[in-house]
Amino acid sequence: MMPTAPCTYVIFGATGNLSRVKLMPALYHLEEAGKLPQDSRILLVGRRDWDRDHTIDQVRSWVSAKARGGLDDGLFGRFAARLDYFKGDLAEDEMYARLQRLIDGETPFPPDVAFYMAIAPDQFGPVCRRLHGADLLQEQHGWRRVVIEKPFGYDLESAQALQQGLARYLREEQIYRIDHYLGKGTVQNLLVYRFANTLMEPLWNRNYIDHVQITHSETLGVGSRAAFYEGAGALRDMIQSHLLQLVTLVAMEPPAAMDAESLRDEKVKVLKSVRPIPQSAVHAHAFRAQYTEGRIGTERACGYLQEENVPRESVTETYAALKLYIDNWRWRGVPFYLRTGKRMQQSQSLISICFRHPPQQFFQGTQVDAMRQNWLLMGIQPCECIRMEMTVKEPGLTMKTRQSSLEASLRNPHETGNDAYEELLLDVIRGDRSLFLRYDEVEYAWRVVDPILRVWSTERDFIHTYPAGSWGPDGSRRLFEKETQHWRHSLEPEANLGDDE
Ligand code: BG6
Repeated sequence: MMPTAPCTYVIFGATGNLSRVKLMPALYHLEEAGKLPQDSRILLVGRRDWDRDHTIDQVRSWVSAKARGGLDDGLFGRFAARLDYFKGDLAEDEMYARLQRLIDGETPFPPDVAFYMAIAPDQFGPVCRRLHGADLLQEQHGWRRVVIEKPFGYDLESAQALQQGLARYLREEQIYRIDHYLGKGTVQNLLVYRFANTLMEPLWNRNYIDHVQITHSETLGVGSRAAFYEGAGALRDMIQSHLLQLVTLVAMEPPAAMDAESLRDEKVKVLKSVRPIPQSAVHAHAFRAQYTEGRIGTERACGYLQEENVPRESVTETYAALKLYIDNWRWRGVPFYLRTGKRMQQSQSLISICFRHPPQQFFQGTQVDAMRQNWLLMGIQPCECIRMEMTVKEPGLTMKTRQSSLEASLRNPHETGNDAYEELLLDVIRGDRSLFLRYDEVEYAWRVVDPILRVWSTERDFIHTYPAGSWGPDGSRRLFEKETQHWRHSLEPEANLGDDE
């Protein structure tokens, strides 16, 4: 569905990092794809003393750095014609009155307006209150939508408080809570793979699946984000949001329809079925660690405690691993292992599904490797593919086997992928909320991690460590419920069983 009515995108925090590296390049690519309705406008709001010409120069440099195939001057000219700058301080009521006069003024902006909160999370509530106070959320002339970045709250209680605040000024249909993982093509493909093919469905349950792993690793460290990261840590930053979303897509039942509500109903059911982790069992279900000095490839990397703006006594986790059980008919007893870390050996996101052993050992007395289980690997990034590993017979006169794989690449070499934000920014103006989080999803995701956060917050004097450039701390193996289980690090075939760290 292509939106045709023009709209206004108001970007709060438009001079900040998210706007520079994601939002403006994504809007430019939507222009290139012809997806921005004619006469739509983009209003960048910031505190800096910029005028329109300076803003356009800045946006040109941000977009140039990200434009696929280089910046096209003609195209940028069309894009720039939509841009305006509005100087204002979000903390001042007077600015919202001016904004309202501008939007509804003599040369009015299109009355369908999306407000994008590319701002600090503690400002989401106050900004919505002030938008409401200036009548900017009233929908008598067109729709008004508010796009909210993560993190939505800091824990269960603060998420509930934020929601209560927003619900005073906005209907749920006006709120677009972003989890940018849902905008990734490979993540959407999970649903297509599961529900547009009949092949896997009979196997997709506790009868055939031994366990599921979801790994997100990064070689980058905390960089310049220490101020934010110190208060977040890996569990909040990646697991409560992106990784639990991936769990819902792997585990959900087929929805009654592909509309936003049916889809989100099924995702919430998964989160509600996650077995609560009692505080007394937190150590058996979760593991945290922090990187120390090491090497990423040939580059030396400092430890987390040596990063800029990190307090020397910090016990913030840069690695978190978690074991979950989903207590429903499909998944009861199947462990889901989730892990994420910064400064790891490779950057990648991977879903690895390990199938059970065959029930009987037919090839006794031969060199057939009875230990091998089948893996289904779903590469989310950077390699976008689905790989099914199987045991096959080697050519020759002896009964010897090796691993071979069937591979479905999700993108042909000549096809370019889109950034997740392109899809999401477009869905906001289409009014399609399927790829945005409904409040109950956020709340139940907090319920999953809250007991762990509580226990960790009381243990302030010790954290395990792992050297930068490694696959994380050895101790996280204690989460596995069987000796035979081990972390699956990559799409590459495994050389030797157990040789995983
Ligand atoms: C963000 C986290 O939400 O996701 C970052 O705050 C993390 O810490 C990033 O690096 C990962 O996203 P992507 O798209 O690069 O995998």
